[in-house]
Amino acid sequence: MRSVLAGAGGFLPGRVVTNDEMAAVVDTSDAWIRDRTGIHQRYRAEGAETTTSMAVAAARKALDAAGASPDDVDLIIVGTSTPDQAFPSVAVRVQAALGIQKGFGFDVSAACAGFVYALSIADEMIRAGRARGALVIGAEVFSRILDYTDRGTCVLFGDGAGAVFLRAEASEGEQGILSTHLHAQGALGDILYVDGAIGVADSAGQPLPGKLHMNGREVFRHAVQRLSESVDEALAHNNLDRGAVDWLVPHQANIRIIEGMGRKLGLAPERVVITVDRHANTSAASIPLALAEAMGDGRIKRGQLVLMEALGGGLVWGSALVRI
Ligand code: COA
Repeated sequence: MRSVLAGAGGFLPGRVVTNDEMAAVVDTSDAWIRDRTGIHQRYRAEGAETTTSMAVAAARKALDAAGASPDDVDLIIVGTSTPDQAFPSVAVRVQAALGIQKGFGFDVSAACAGFVYALSIADEMIRAGRARGALVIGAEVFSRILDYTDRGTCVLFGDGAGAVFLRAEASEGEQGILSTHLHAQGALGDILYVDGAIGVADSAGQPLPGKLHMNGREVFRHAVQRLSESVDEALAHNNLDRGAVDWLVPHQANIRIIEGMGRKLGLAPERVVITVDRHANTSAASIPLALAEAMGDGRIKRGQLVLMEALGGGLVWGSALVRI
């Protein structure tokens, strides 16, 4: 059994927040944000928009793109650090919204590497014969865990959701997930974290909703090193050299990190899918959003080899190499 990535879909909430708008909230500027991160704007969920509602919208688009229906789904995995509720999981809320009566689903907490983690687990389950059709989703509302007095973090993130549909194929063939690799180093947990969660209270018993904290320089340093190692690991595992990769679809945190990985692979800049300028960092949603965009507009074609890589708070990181 192998997992074929049959289709991808993305959803962005309606409200665009420009850098100039962020400059009205904290001491920053459009020029600083563009220059240091590549971000021009971000999307923000408002009103009734939730992680689940966006995940459902992205899932529907992924199924459409794959020519599949909810009846084909027997596994749903959602990578998210911003679920709407402690339980039920976003995954089973998506299951209900799509009217799916069979199979099972759960959420995966791996911050910005959430999609790569979820994709890896879904691939293993399909290979093991436990599922035949899997929705793998990344969905986040980071706008709701940002500290809007911290200019070093609040300008960096946005909201959105992306999804792919994986179909089990029994026959021999070139298409499918060739490999995934996952890593974690919990000792580095304090360089990027959220100081609270559902169920966490302060000394007076008041709920602590949690805000994101980051040592940007340290995260940047580790990201460059770990992601570079991940690229080497994925290529070596598959006995491929870097010239074999057609597209890099990286996690979208900072344009400088993304361009560095593109150069490492020797890829022309137009072979690196970039959304960070418009979406900012949507955490677990960033890779499937980028994939949906580049498959949807015909840039990424069937038969091409796509490398995905991501790193997030944990630290957690990993890669996936996929023949589309
Ligand atoms: N606007 C203006 N100035 C800002 C700012 C902002 N939004 N944010 C930080 N600064 C200031 C800092 O206060 C600092 O000022 P100082 O020198 O007077 O103390 C200066 O800019 C440099 O800060 P530094 O943190 O060293 O900047 P940087 O070049 O490392 O860029 C990041 C900051 C966050 C953009 C960068 O570190 C980064 O992208 N890190 C990785 C982030 C990441 O990938 N996170 C997600 C992983 S999933």
